[in-house]
Amino acid sequence: MLRCFSCGGNRLKDVRDIEDDDMPIRSSDSSENGSRKSSLSGKVKESSSQKGNMARSFTFRELSTATRNFKETNLIGEGGFGRVFKGHLDSGQASDAFPTSISFIVAIKQLNRDGFQGNQEFIVEVLMLSLLHHPNLVNLIGYCSSGDQRLLVYEYMRMGSLEGHLFDIEPDKEPLDWSTGIKIAFGAAQGLEYLHCKANPPVIYRDLKSANILLDENFYPKLSDFGLAKLGPVGDNTHVSTRVVGTFGYCAPEYAMSGKLTLKSDIYSFGVVLLELITGRKAIVLSRKAGEQNLVVWSRPFLKDPKNFIRLADPMLQGRFHVRTLCHAVAITAMCLQESANFRPFIGDIVVALEYLASQSNKKSSRGVPRCPPSPSPSPSPSKHSSGSFSRDRDFGSFSSI
Ligand SMILES: Nc1ncnc2c1ncn2[C@@H]1O[C@H](COP(=O)(O)OP(=O)(O)OP(=O)(O)O)[C@@H](O)[C@H]1O
Ligand SMILES: [Mg+2]
Repeated sequence: MLRCFSCGGNRLKDVRDIEDDDMPIRSSDSSENGSRKSSLSGKVKESSSQKGNMARSFTFRELSTATRNFKETNLIGEGGFGRVFKGHLDSGQASDAFPTSISFIVAIKQLNRDGFQGNQEFIVEVLMLSLLHHPNLVNLIGYCSSGDQRLLVYEYMRMGSLEGHLFDIEPDKEPLDWSTGIKIAFGAAQGLEYLHCKANPPVIYRDLKSANILLDENFYPKLSDFGLAKLGPVGDNTHVSTRVVGTFGYCAPEYAMSGKLTLKSDIYSFGVVLLELITGRKAIVLSRKAGEQNLVVWSRPFLKDPKNFIRLADPMLQGRFHVRTLCHAVAITAMCLQESANFRPFIGDIVVALEYLASQSNKKSSRGVPRCPPSPSPSPSPSKHSSGSFSRDRDFGSFSSI
């Protein structure tokens, strides 16, 4: 569900970020609900078709049929944007090669009809996911912009969101094991690395949280919800100034206070997700007693002293983790959550560190005396995207400084 930031109950959408001229969707009018068409602007069309992965336009009727008229039994989730339904789409007409047409499952998100702001998020989502493609980003199959209907069609992620596997787990459901959790963190970090380092210009995600990390049937993670994403600073600029949007509990303090957005704002949010994975606690729980409502605030004393790292471990893990690996993960988390954005690591370094931890996490859990290795001393990174502290080619056996 939506958790809001600085708007007294509703997440703010940064409507000023988009100029009308930039709008990728041009709704062509039409007669009947379901027969209207919309198309992407020439610019987006060209870029995405070059990649051969163009989101297609659906009629409202097609999506209504796919979800059996948005039947309640097909409802799989609900967030601030609207409700999400499971649907079945046909791959197309039968041919000689494929004598029967194949039906595949999709997730269809239907925008609450609350006007302009939601529409802006819809446009940014279509634009971003038409241009950005990576195995750790959710695939946008299509969209529908028909009258006042706005719908998004995604690949179906069978295991839902990471949030759904971390908190309020039903008694008959297995909690995530440590090894799976760390692999999910590694995959999510790779998605973020693509946005920060490979996309040009870089993209600041702005909505990184466990609810936006979706999992397929093998728990392979994909980042979702790019409606708040923003193109990052270019040239000599260090930040972009924008209205503060995001989700309470995940926003970096300097961004929340000044609206100055940098890639390091995402790193802070990533740190909060890591902390949720380690502790099994939600970023914000208002029903907890004072001092425990905000996860980062609660964890600060533990994060300061490596001897206390182990005390952050989720009791649901029942000690089934490699202590050294867990302590390394806490050390990475502590670096991501540095108050000073400059001291936070770059995503490239986090990917290297988590790759190592994921490779180690299958090792037998050590249930012995839980003592953590010394923590690293965080230092500002010299280069733009990598501190050079770790390299992918490095002998990971010597990865003991974290
Ligand atoms: N592609 C998908 N495949 C399967 N389930 C999905 C998919 N997209 C969303 N869901 C389900 O729908 C739920 C709601 O998703 P949604 O993105 O609308 O809201 P949210 O991320 O929880 O919160 P908000 O968007 O308000 O910040 C998710 O938690 C997930 O369980
Ligand atoms: Mg979401």
